[in-house]
Amino acid sequence: ARQFFVGGNFKLNPASLQASTSLIETLNKADLDPATEVVIAPPALYVIPVQQIVRKDVKVAAQNCYFKESGAFTGEISPKQLVDAGIPYVILGHSERRTLFHETSELVATKTRAAIDAGLKVIFCIGETLEQRESGQTAAVCEEQLKAFVDVAKEVDWSKIVIAYEPVWAIGTGKVATSAQAQETHKDIRAYLSTAVSPAVANSVQILYGGSVTAGNCKELAQQPDVDGFLVGGASLKPEFADIINARK
Ligand code: 13P
Repeated sequence: ARQFFVGGNFKLNPASLQASTSLIETLNKADLDPATEVVIAPPALYVIPVQQIVRKDVKVAAQNCYFKESGAFTGEISPKQLVDAGIPYVILGHSERRTLFHETSELVATKTRAAIDAGLKVIFCIGETLEQRESGQTAAVCEEQLKAFVDVAKEVDWSKIVIAYEPVWAIGTGKVATSAQAQETHKDIRAYLSTAVSPAVANSVQILYGGSVTAGNCKELAQQPDVDGFLVGGASLKPEFADIINARK
């Protein structure tokens, strides 16, 4: 069985180290289901201080990294630096990176390969826009985003990858996907991986749902057979994050 996995993507929040610290103090006191793998992704500047104070059963992720190890790449962080800092995870391909920062599927794939080769685990984000869903392209868009990585994934250890399906229309909008919509797309993603990679990888890879997940809607989503957890934005900054971690408890 696939382990239940909940990630908290803090995005560019909160606006101070002190506020980050109090967020972590709340999480440190919460009663969390030990069966859930929990990963939090603070802003890059706070990754190390958060790692130093967070409880040991919660892991830390960066929200992005580059594919080069070092060099003249102003503003970037390398996978090797994250490994050196003891950070085990990185989120790559988030829709905000793809849209606001113009990251192509090829760049996301290159970064994912480099991150895994450096020893990181990757939360690999995919998902369609509202227009794409309404024109029936959801599965095709997810496939295209995954295929760019599959094309460079020769001999990759797929246990280092967690997929996050985040429909763009559900991110930060309060419009959560129905559990049927999430289940259908997760199943399509597994079907694609079964053909493009292998049935074993399709069966073992964790697929998270992300987009307006709250304490109120997480339980039903968590019951879907192909939903293995969540990538949580806004609600990861609130005490209800603990309830989402405990969605299967
Ligand atoms: P929200 O939970 O705020 O909709 O954000 C989802 C997300 O983008 C997580 O990566």
